[in-house]
Amino acid sequence: MSLETMTLFSPKLAARFDALVEKYPLKRSALIPMLLYAQDEIGYLSDTVIGEVALRIGITELEVRNVASYYSMLRFKPAGKYNVQVCTNISCMLRGAYDLYERFQEELGVGHKGVTPDGVFSLEEVECIGVCCWAPAIQVNYDFHEDLTPEHVPAILDGYRSNALAGGKVSHA
Ligand code: FES
Repeated sequence: MSLETMTLFSPKLAARFDALVEKYPLKRSALIPMLLYAQDEIGYLSDTVIGEVALRIGITELEVRNVASYYSMLRFKPAGKYNVQVCTNISCMLRGAYDLYERFQEELGVGHKGVTPDGVFSLEEVECIGVCCWAPAIQVNYDFHEDLTPEHVPAILDGYRSNALAGGKVSHA
């Protein structure tokens, strides 16, 4: 495959990748940033995404997968349009994160890493998202919702559902 003509990525991202592999003395240092950018643009790390990243860096697909599997923010299957990440780390846990997480599971009918049948939501239990002072907190794509109780859950989901029905713009986390 000629990367110039066959790339999966937008010209802007392909140019960014070219710059990244030039920037590091060891090309493989560009691996995690490349995977994050690729996921942001494509939505998840498909086999073809992994193949192109491996080619760009000059390592095997197996090496890419071995490294990527350590990072919980990288996904190998498509997420929902809105990816709901519920923090259950210590500060959030002490302030009711598991009740919150349970309510999201009930409302969405899916568990950890599940995707609703309509593809609108996916759900994940995650480690600290950096807003411990406002625990318990969640992140939906790039939006934060803080100081929550289970009673807040239906309205949060309704807001995103309405946005999905209206064809709202989405950026993946
Ligand atoms: S512990 Fe939940 S945001 Fe830090």
